[in-house]
Amino acid sequence: MDAIRYLDAVAAQAATRAYKSRLLSVLDPERRHTVLDVGCGPGTDLPDLAETGAEWVIGVDADPLMVAEARRRAEEYPAVSVHVGDARHLPLADSMVDRARLDRVLHQVPEPERALAELRRVLRPDGIAVVAQPDWDSITVDPGDDAVNRAVRDHVCAAMPGATTGRRVARLAERAGFEVVLDATAPVLRDFGVADEVLGLSRNAERAVRAGRLAADRAAEWLAELRSGPFLATFVLFTAVLRPAVSSAAGTR
Ligand SMILES: C[S@@+](CC[C@H](N)C(=O)[O-])C[C@H]1O[C@@H](n2cnc3c(N)ncnc32)[C@H](O)[C@@H]1O
Repeated sequence: MDAIRYLDAVAAQAATRAYKSRLLSVLDPERRHTVLDVGCGPGTDLPDLAETGAEWVIGVDADPLMVAEARRRAEEYPAVSVHVGDARHLPLADSMVDRARLDRVLHQVPEPERALAELRRVLRPDGIAVVAQPDWDSITVDPGDDAVNRAVRDHVCAAMPGATTGRRVARLAERAGFEVVLDATAPVLRDFGVADEVLGLSRNAERAVRAGRLAADRAAEWLAELRSGPFLATFVLFTAVLRPAVSSAAGTR
């Protein structure tokens, strides 16, 4: 599935809307604020950030295609600007940001600790940042053979080096000079079609077969069982609220 279509499908889910809205209410930007969305993707959250009335909303993403789409979606919001940039080298001055969000980005960043140090550098001492990060080693489904569930999950983690970044966010953020309030929730998906779109169950089962981790007939049986009736999928989603630690100088811890 194309990356933008995938992100839009995920953004449309009730569980996604719920955590994004929770994070927005934690950020609660004021009119004088500069707000940063690191790894803004196709601009999923930029309109909501602009609707808060914040003075300046900045999106940064490493992918020029995402930036182009984010700019298109934010066209009607003069307070929004979107830039190509790397979370590890933000194109921003020190302490210029009041509120920031990093939503499902850190698993794609080879050195997540550098992205957190950058976040600390650009955030004002009284600023607030929020991070959302799933732990992909926790995907659990029912019904179906647990061993196949584990094989598919192992394949997802082998193919995605940052799959377990979620569980490390609090520790890495503390090391970067933040005080952290960590929360973990487990979104529950009861519709196979939705879970398949969000978690890529069929896609990853096929890939696990191609990678030799799973026999084709067991994968087919597993998927048939998942499609057959009452269904559940869940995973752990970590959310963290970060505030610069009083004792820390930016980027020195
Ligand atoms: C899963 S998407 C999330 C997009 C958006 N935050 C959302 O919630 O819809 C991850 C985004 O992070 C971007 N990204 C990955 N590595 C990055 C990096 N090193 N610096 C900036 N953006 C990065 C990707 O291009 C992608 O748009």
